[in-house]
Amino acid sequence: MTSPAPASALTQDELKAQVGRAALAHVVKGEIVGVGTGSTVNKFIDALATIKGDIRGAVSSSVASTERLHALGIPVFDSNEVEELAVYIDGADEIDGRGYMIKGGGAALTREKIVAAQSRRFVCIADSSKRVNTLGGFPLPVEVIPMAAQRVVRQFARLGGMAQVREKDGVALVTDNGQHIIDVTGLRITDPLGFESEVNQWPGVVTVGVFAHQRANVCLLGTPSGVQTLRFD
Ligand code: 5RP
Repeated sequence: MTSPAPASALTQDELKAQVGRAALAHVVKGEIVGVGTGSTVNKFIDALATIKGDIRGAVSSSVASTERLHALGIPVFDSNEVEELAVYIDGADEIDGRGYMIKGGGAALTREKIVAAQSRRFVCIADSSKRVNTLGGFPLPVEVIPMAAQRVVRQFARLGGMAQVREKDGVALVTDNGQHIIDVTGLRITDPLGFESEVNQWPGVVTVGVFAHQRANVCLLGTPSGVQTLRFD
């Protein structure tokens, strides 16, 4: 007989699986659940498949999540078919002590913000490496209309940020919405609400990856000693 690995030996992947399973407790039976994007959410989708008979289906925030949901037999609804969702479950690249986040490492930030906005609660699932005091250590993703990219890069330079267009296979990455992503380093975002409002109104910006107006209500944080629940409301 083998004994379980000590908690401290949990890998980042196992921490993600742990919070993915823990998020099932926040899924409302008989309802449609909002589903984010990323490696942590993939663990949640796998867990969700074990209770798929208890939910009506999902609204998805990306082509990748939709494909995974479909592969596991979970019905996917268009966001326009659903007025309000009880809960949205998604990961984050950074989360601070007030539930404000940086998201978009997986380039799905715009659809993520749309589904978050139509949900009554945002449950963030993340491993403990994502918890920060001040947002900005992770390069901030911003989805832009391609013709505005260099202008937005120059606007960030005026704020002290260094921005570059994200590439995949040597060419500019194209999002699910047909747009580009710029990633901005060198920022320290001390006023996430004001920063999000300002950048979102720059011409050509589709969405900035600061989630302050759509912050998390709860964060399930995977730590070596178990899942820690952080509440922000
Ligand atoms: C995708 C996202 C993800 O939630 C974020 O990048 C975290 O991903 P992961 O769970 O793979 O660390 O915002 O656009």
